[in-house]
Amino acid sequence: MTYSVFKFLHVLGVVLLIGNVTITAYWKVLADRTRSTALVTHAQRGVIYADWLFTLPGILLILVGGYGMVWEAGLDPLGADWLLWSQALFLLSGLIWLGILVPAQIRQARTVRSLNQKDEIPESYWRDGRLWLVWGIAATVPLIAAIYVMIVKG
Ligand code: HEM
Repeated sequence: MTYSVFKFLHVLGVVLLIGNVTITAYWKVLADRTRSTALVTHAQRGVIYADWLFTLPGILLILVGGYGMVWEAGLDPLGADWLLWSQALFLLSGLIWLGILVPAQIRQARTVRSLNQKDEIPESYWRDGRLWLVWGIAATVPLIAAIYVMIVKG
């Protein structure tokens, strides 16, 4: 029973995390394409809120549920290949998120916060936007791979 509850929390975390990172990127790209300062600023703020509301809880649920199952079942976290790989993929994705994506988001938020509605959005914002999209996709691939590895276990 406890194991199943941890698994439920774990999978809920996966849904929250991957659901948020994919759909947030989709809407942000659509907002950026309008080139409207008001809309881009609004969407940028939404990206930051979505991280607090969904990405962070998703990460916490994956960790609590994942290591809860490991503890409950008496598994060695460094034992089975599938468990080892999932942790490595999760770590890789987290490093990209923390090292590249979060700083790019903060820079973009600072840039648009200082603008008036009639101001042009500076080139540095669009450069960070391209960086954010490419590395956002790069950070999502290991998460998709982790789903495969955890289900197939091979
Ligand atoms: C933080 C490291 C992680 C640990 C310690 C961990 C641990 C586990 C454990 C022990 C199971 C139960 C397997 C079973 O009962 O057969 C599981 C299942 C699962 N994990 Fe993870 N996991 C981690 C990261 C991830 C990540 C990053 C994802 C995807 C983004 C993921 C997706 C899944 C899925 C979809 C299942 C259900 C598999 C099934 O029931 O066949 N896990 N995880």
